[in-house]
Amino acid sequence: MARRGAANVVPMQVHVADHPLIAHKLTLLRDESTDSPTFRRLADELVTLLAYEATRNVRTESVEVKTPVARAHGVRLAKPRPLVVPILRAGLGMLEGMQRLLPTAEVGVLGMVRNEETLEASTYAERLPDSLVGRQCYVLDPMLATGGTLAAAIDFLVRRGADHITVICLLAAPEGIARIERELEHIDIPVELVTAGLDERLNEVGYIVPGLGDAGDRLYGVV
Ligand code: URA
Repeated sequence: MARRGAANVVPMQVHVADHPLIAHKLTLLRDESTDSPTFRRLADELVTLLAYEATRNVRTESVEVKTPVARAHGVRLAKPRPLVVPILRAGLGMLEGMQRLLPTAEVGVLGMVRNEETLEASTYAERLPDSLVGRQCYVLDPMLATGGTLAAAIDFLVRRGADHITVICLLAAPEGIARIERELEHIDIPVELVTAGLDERLNEVGYIVPGLGDAGDRLYGVV
């Protein structure tokens, strides 16, 4: 894994999407009276809007095409294809929204679980290419709360060789961002976060305040 000295640490680039449609959909998503089918649809729409922001730096290559009238210069997505990585379980609820914008991306999944005693996150499921050298990765996880899971996921992808990671979250907490920056000080690749909202804080049980509750439960109809 590429490393750098602490003196060179660059904070994660955090982009809070600022758009009235995103704010509108996020407000409906937060509302506890929003039912599960509506929550899923809103989350899906929000991810597509966030994906537009998140793919601003997706790599392209020049290409020439022939229109019915003349030759035209344009671009197409470069190889290797971007990799989209939903974190199980709740990240799966974001996959379709992402694929709508990036249909040719490869998809790999990562299941992370937190040991409630040590609070360390570990990998329990993984379906990713063995080498991610040269790959731009888009990690999907609806809630950046304590940051433990996402820090472990990013570290995992960097160890496989990823050279650009963009995390897409519906909501983030300042504590989670700080933890990722702290734990990933040694990582020498660009890591970006695109989120629909940066909330106030975490409560005593690790929920984002004001947040939207348990994203997985609301996506999959547990509440
Ligand atoms: N995970 C969630 O689903 N919600 C939170 O508020 C924090 C973590």
